[in-house]
Amino acid sequence: MNNQANFARTLVTCALPYANGPIHIGHLAGVYVPADIYVRYLRMRGKDVLFICGSDEHGVPITIKARAEGCSPQDIVDHYHKIIKDSFAGMGINFDIYSRTTSKLHAETASDFFKKLYDEGKFISMESEQYYDTEAGCFLADRYIVGSCPKCGHEGAYGDQCENCGSTLSPEELINPVSKLSGTTPIKKKTTHWYLPLDKYQEWLSNWILEGHQEWRSNVYGQCKSWLDSGLQPRAVSRDLDWGVPLPIPGTEGKVLYVWFDAPIGYISNTKELLPYSWEKWWKQEDTRLVHFIGKDNIVFHCIVFPSMLKAHGEYILPDNVPANEFLNLEGDKISTSRNWAVWAHEYLLDFPGKADVMRYVLTANAPETKDNDFSWKEFQMRNNSELAAIFGNFVNRAIVLTHKYFDGKIPACGELLEMDKAAFAEIKALRDSLEDNLDNFRFRDALKDAMGIARVGNKYISDAEPWKTSKSDMERTGTILNVCLQICADLAIAFEPFTPDAAERLRKMLRTGIFTGKDYRKGEEECENTIKGCEELVLEWDMLGGESILPEGWQIAPAELLFEKIEDSAIDAQLNRLAKIRAENEAAEKGA
Ligand code: MF3
Ligand code: ZN
Repeated sequence: MNNQANFARTLVTCALPYANGPIHIGHLAGVYVPADIYVRYLRMRGKDVLFICGSDEHGVPITIKARAEGCSPQDIVDHYHKIIKDSFAGMGINFDIYSRTTSKLHAETASDFFKKLYDEGKFISMESEQYYDTEAGCFLADRYIVGSCPKCGHEGAYGDQCENCGSTLSPEELINPVSKLSGTTPIKKKTTHWYLPLDKYQEWLSNWILEGHQEWRSNVYGQCKSWLDSGLQPRAVSRDLDWGVPLPIPGTEGKVLYVWFDAPIGYISNTKELLPYSWEKWWKQEDTRLVHFIGKDNIVFHCIVFPSMLKAHGEYILPDNVPANEFLNLEGDKISTSRNWAVWAHEYLLDFPGKADVMRYVLTANAPETKDNDFSWKEFQMRNNSELAAIFGNFVNRAIVLTHKYFDGKIPACGELLEMDKAAFAEIKALRDSLEDNLDNFRFRDALKDAMGIARVGNKYISDAEPWKTSKSDMERTGTILNVCLQICADLAIAFEPFTPDAAERLRKMLRTGIFTGKDYRKGEEECENTIKGCEELVLEWDMLGGESILPEGWQIAPAELLFEKIEDSAIDAQLNRLAKIRAENEAAEKGA
């Protein structure tokens, strides 16, 4: 089911990554690659789409990292913001804007948002007792308190969690709590905070989600249902911390907005930054469709907390869909930043230059859409060598090389179609229908299977039709076969544009065509022109997919170039050795601890 037709435009957001570390393949697979595929697809179909992201630069972990490295939180976020932004660009994730929550405009936007809710009495304030470090002179975030775990006795448990036994804790439960700031024992002190009373939104949310959005992915719907079933509680929207957007209430020095309050407002401030005059139509008009791409750990914030904030504010639209993914593991183990168990995007781009597409392909083919999935380097190599190179690349190469060999690189005339030719076209049309249905409904793995299916049809067709044999006796039939093959090459250049844009471009250059990619807002223009990439003389469009005469007879194509190189064992072994070393280091560190 999809109701895009009822909307004039689509606003797509991706979870704002924390700027306290680089991004890894789990982030890419779960959020950014699928979102980018979706946006490219919609644009090719002529839809008006805005694609928003940026760094999430507040929160306690950033202050902890700064302290550990002996620098300021600002230094940390400046450093990682750049790395993350460059990684996205390198992976071909084309946000219209990638900004940051430390911008002045964001602070204003988030404060105004809070202020409006505060003035209208939408918050409740409550006093509670919290741990306070008398030597450092400040309240302690949960992560700044360590002690022994009440469940397993482990000595380095944090105020929110024990990493030894995995239990979720509250700081009061810790035995012998100690402040990480000064090493002293903290005292309890009273402090006031503001809360969004989610309990008051319970009924509205149940109705909106459980009745109104049964089409959401079952993992998303299920998580919402279980939150709603267990009853919502008021949630604090302020913190005692010196890093964040200051609370816009007189007499609250030392308090900031909770990071999960300010960060989603970043979607709005980043839109404002890009389109200062027309941002409101993207956020306030009912004919805008808002879609949030996130990982499963973000579901409650995007389906329950942020919508309640938007509802409380009253002027904003609500998300129409929240296609959240499960997690990607690496070689059988959970990806972990602290254990360096990850494939980092910026390192991948250095180790495999020009191969962003291969990673995009593998992460999509194996996307953790319905359950957690595993990334392995062997599978990466296998999918490159036996799918991208052996099927897609091999088919395109044969079709183009033979066209040069027999027809001087000009598209030959198409004679009478035989059953096998008609069958190939029919299969491709069926794959196109399925591809569109899957993309419209956020099933990117299945969609990629359909796109790859087109290459499989082509590869099998050329093997069965054997133009190298027919060329000995029947040039007209040979021309027809190659004509069919070249139409399929054009299909591939269209169908793969959202998934592997660089490879699609290389293919398009061989076919000497351009492609219609719709409009993007990267230049910040309020109204912008449609974009055609490449040669404007012959322009491929999404709607041509499955057509029998996309490329006209006589059209000159360019010489064949390798579409996908084989990936050698040595490159894979280097990655596996790196991981083996990290595993050994982690094990040694754990034994030592
Ligand atoms: N930084 C958060 C994370 O990585 C996501 C923030 S999404 C936003 O889990 F909506 F708050 F921006
Ligand atoms: Zn424990």
